[in-house]
Amino acid sequence: MKILITRKLPEKFINQLSDYKVDMYDSTLEPMPKDLLNKKAKQSDIVITMLSDQIDESFLKENRHLKAIINLAVGYDNIDIDCAHELGIIVCNTPDVLTETTAELAFTLMLTTARRVIEASQMLHNGKWVGWSPYLLAGSDVHHKTVGIFGMGKIGLAFARRCKGFEMNVLYHNRSKSKEAASVNATYVSFEELLEKSDYIICCAPLTESTKGIFNQSAFKKMKKTAYFINIGRGGHVVEHDLLHAIQDGDILGAGLDVYQTEPIDMNHPFLNEPNITMLPHIGSSTTETRDAMIQVCIDNALSIARGKQPKTQIII
Ligand code: GLV
Ligand code: GLV
Repeated sequence: MKILITRKLPEKFINQLSDYKVDMYDSTLEPMPKDLLNKKAKQSDIVITMLSDQIDESFLKENRHLKAIINLAVGYDNIDIDCAHELGIIVCNTPDVLTETTAELAFTLMLTTARRVIEASQMLHNGKWVGWSPYLLAGSDVHHKTVGIFGMGKIGLAFARRCKGFEMNVLYHNRSKSKEAASVNATYVSFEELLEKSDYIICCAPLTESTKGIFNQSAFKKMKKTAYFINIGRGGHVVEHDLLHAIQDGDILGAGLDVYQTEPIDMNHPFLNEPNITMLPHIGSSTTETRDAMIQVCIDNALSIARGKQPKTQIII
């Protein structure tokens, strides 16, 4: 059994795979080049992938011998899941272990955006702070406001729980009503109503065909002029050009983003010149504890599959 890993992971995890032949890419930062991944996958049985690896139809068809693809992420929009399913290739992700951590980052991003924290810090570091003034970097309150959660899965629920401490009014929209939403005092509304009533829209849905580009010009026009759009899901939910114009035209007040259409972003990206967009480099689940836990889930899945057992977090479609 040969296991290919597309990024350099700590030895304490790799040691657990000592019964098997492991081929690991030698970079923690750079993704494995696609042609190398394709070539190495040909001699492998299991591939542990990152969300930055595009596992598309042509890759899968060329590597139909693979037993499993184990993605180090909860989201798996980088994998053509239908094609993998058709070819009988197991696909696993890392749910649950990152829920609270990712909700925490979403909350951080909401507060940071509302209170203009990064802009404020940059002003100070750039020597532009001339003293206290009544409306210096005046932001928006979060407490007692209405928050609209788009995607009420585990992360959405964990986010809603945090809103309680800020005495927020919590609305949500989801493909189907969430049984657990009542326990976090969240009210189901239509997508339209979510847009119209929320002071903060938090996108934490997985990216699917039906949510691609859902945050477009028409959606932003329905939002309050004082609203903020926060995205910790996937960049593909957003038409970025429309978001930029919505902010520049005053349709909404600002945005806080952890995810983008193309990652990493180009340094000419127009968002970079827009002070009302707070930007983070896709760090939703990035704490040492949670990344350790996510890698461990991948290792456990690889061991189960190698031993002919059912992996714990296989994606069933
Ligand atoms: C991160 O974006 C993940 O899907 O785990
Ligand atoms: C602010 O620092 C205040 O005292 O109001």
